[in-house]
Amino acid sequence: MKILKIDPVHIKSDFIRQAARVLRRGSLVVFPTETVYGIGADVFNEKAVAKIFIVKQRMADNPIIVHIAQMSDLKKLARNVLPQALLLAKHFWPGPLTLILSKKREVSQIVTGDNDTVAVRMPDHPVALALIKAVKSPIAAPSANLSGKPSATDVAHALSDFGDKIDVYIDSGPAKIGLESTVLDLTVNPPEILRPGAITKEILQKFLGRVVDNKNHPKNKIRSPGMKYRHYAPNARLVLVNGNPKIIVKKMQALLGKFKKEGKKVGIIASKETVAHCRQADSVVILSTRRNLKMAAHKLFRALRRFDDERMDIIISETFPERDIGKAIMNRLRKAATS
Ligand code: TXA
Ligand code: MG
Repeated sequence: MKILKIDPVHIKSDFIRQAARVLRRGSLVVFPTETVYGIGADVFNEKAVAKIFIVKQRMADNPIIVHIAQMSDLKKLARNVLPQALLLAKHFWPGPLTLILSKKREVSQIVTGDNDTVAVRMPDHPVALALIKAVKSPIAAPSANLSGKPSATDVAHALSDFGDKIDVYIDSGPAKIGLESTVLDLTVNPPEILRPGAITKEILQKFLGRVVDNKNHPKNKIRSPGMKYRHYAPNARLVLVNGNPKIIVKKMQALLGKFKKEGKKVGIIASKETVAHCRQADSVVILSTRRNLKMAAHKLFRALRRFDDERMDIIISETFPERDIGKAIMNRLRKAATS
């Protein structure tokens, strides 16, 4: 196992070439993107893609996002690419938006979990783009975490999940956004957000008109299979508290008192506004001020993983306003809390 440290500002091209060779020979590489770290395989090498499912312990029906570096790559993956897809690609790529499109026959069913659609995105990270270009093939890559765990926002998180089961890890420092891309299904009308992210419904509606949130399709076929599995979950039990800051403080204190009495180790995820009231806790992470949702998103998964390292029994987290990336934060927190 090898860790290649690549500064995104001064990219070492020999390291990129090394990692590209590893991917071309059918092994896996952990690499940075602007959202979270990915665990990549050459999309056209079925055996390599199958390895991803094994090391991640991922269910076979949960499809994988394919990462491209230039618009010409899209033709290798998707058919009937409609003008609205091109419009979004033009505005948001490279960036944290994944588009679900009709797939070409050449894209293996292993990648798409037997669906006839393919998820595509162009990551906004110079190292990821350089790597995909060097491989000369799009890279299939889910987030670089064991299934069910919080996504890796730093190479250390991927290392602790996979160790020497992966040949090469590229370390380019912490991921800028910290939450996974928005997943938008363009094969349905109106387009549907299968997973909220930094690019919100409000932003997408400016380009597409009506866009709907995922409705979970209780009876229909589950369209984003990833959504039905346990997700983002720390080992500790996660309890969410909502309300305005005053109410949050009250509820947190009550819960803290109760759990401490039970002899539990308690970690708290708080904001600058509420943190002063958490003295009884065993460990505290301040994400940001309640208004700085970008910073909160950036630090959320790191906080969940830190509490696992510290072996907390319970994590109490405050909730955040569901505007902008706040909706994605709350989506991940709720999933982590209910699993
Ligand atoms: O930001 C991200 O999207 C990161 C980085 C590495 O690019 N990737 C990521 O991949 O989060 P993953 O596998 O952890 O999540 C992909 C989500 C899953 O919920 C999966 O079910 C859904 O996208 N997905 C992938 N292909 C799909 C398809 N053809 N139809 C519906 N949903 C799909
Ligand atoms: Mg994931």
